[in-house]
Amino acid sequence: MKVAFFDAKPYDKPSFDRFGKEAGVSFKYFETKLNEDTVELAHDVDAVCVFVNDTVNAAVIDRLVEMGVRTVALRCAGFNNVDMKYAHGRVHVLRVPAYSPYAVAEHTMAMLLTSIRRIHKAYIRTRDFNFSLAGMTGFDLHGKTVGVVGTGRIGRVFIDICRGFGMKVLAYDKFPAQGLDNGDTIRYVELDELFRNSDIISLHCPLTEDTYHLVDAETLEKCKRGVVLLNTSRGALVDAEALLAGIKSRKVGAACLDVYEEESDFFFEDFSGHILEDDTLARLISMPNVIVTSHQAFLTEEALSNIAQTTIENLVTFQKTGECPNELCFRGGCAEDCKTGKCF
Ligand code: NAI
Repeated sequence: MKVAFFDAKPYDKPSFDRFGKEAGVSFKYFETKLNEDTVELAHDVDAVCVFVNDTVNAAVIDRLVEMGVRTVALRCAGFNNVDMKYAHGRVHVLRVPAYSPYAVAEHTMAMLLTSIRRIHKAYIRTRDFNFSLAGMTGFDLHGKTVGVVGTGRIGRVFIDICRGFGMKVLAYDKFPAQGLDNGDTIRYVELDELFRNSDIISLHCPLTEDTYHLVDAETLEKCKRGVVLLNTSRGALVDAEALLAGIKSRKVGAACLDVYEEESDFFFEDFSGHILEDDTLARLISMPNVIVTSHQAFLTEEALSNIAQTTIENLVTFQKTGECPNELCFRGGCAEDCKTGKCF
């Protein structure tokens, strides 16, 4: 099987080549992202393999179908970059639902600790032999309340980590997990209560029409003064302009962002030496209480290996049987992952 692999990075190739060779799948690697202009590169392949910032919209889907390419293998969990309604009945969309929830949850905690204990500042200071502690005061996580939006695979691992720190958890999910709420240290609440009563808020839900700008000026208004916002899920869950305003007004105490609404123009690329065109991103990065990583929460050895293995298993299983347990299952009108696996 021949697969066009878009948005290829050097760290992708070793594991995809290794597992691909074993399974008889060969990859044509393209550094460019998939979009209307680059879709022609898929003219002689059986499937395309795409990542978070490739565009699989109606125009791309139409051209893929014209070229006889009916399989889109996402090498990620999120699928907001695919027009799923349009894909229905035209192309089959396979994804990697879980590769290492630990990678993302641990990165989220790493960012939180870095931020509130000023590790990023201390690293720079001590390298300069500046051993002053001025401005380094942090706060204990023990006893604080963390609001977790989305209690799926990553959200639940993050809750476990927070519980290890002795934090209380307020959780919200459109589909609450059975048995998670213990009526005491972990409680499901409405979003409004979560926003009002959390010291730290961490987003682990998918980006859908429901969750677009879940954190905006109105929701930030409800939050405690000094709230810490963590977003390692999808950029557009947060209205970046509203966040910037919240930081300037001191309502938001700190923000840790692994994702950004307009990240596809910048993240994963080297812009050092250039003038950053996005004023909001530049201003956010310039804030002493904002930490930005460029969508790297997934990037562990374990996750890369699992991503390659599952993507290739998906492709091979689908080619052999015409079915795949990791095919995204959407009816035309269904707005989110219905989890039945049956309705496509
Ligand atoms: P999951 O599917 O296991 O969990 C998502 C949870 O969100 C589910 O429990 C679902 O019921 C819930 N949910 C759906 N709609 C909701 C809504 N409107 N409000 C509140 N909750 C809602 O997904 P998983 O593996 O935990 O991933 C979560 C998100 O993390 C992904 O959607 C993706 O955007 C992001 N992600 C980020 C990565 C990174 O490198 N920064 C890597 C992998 C995933």
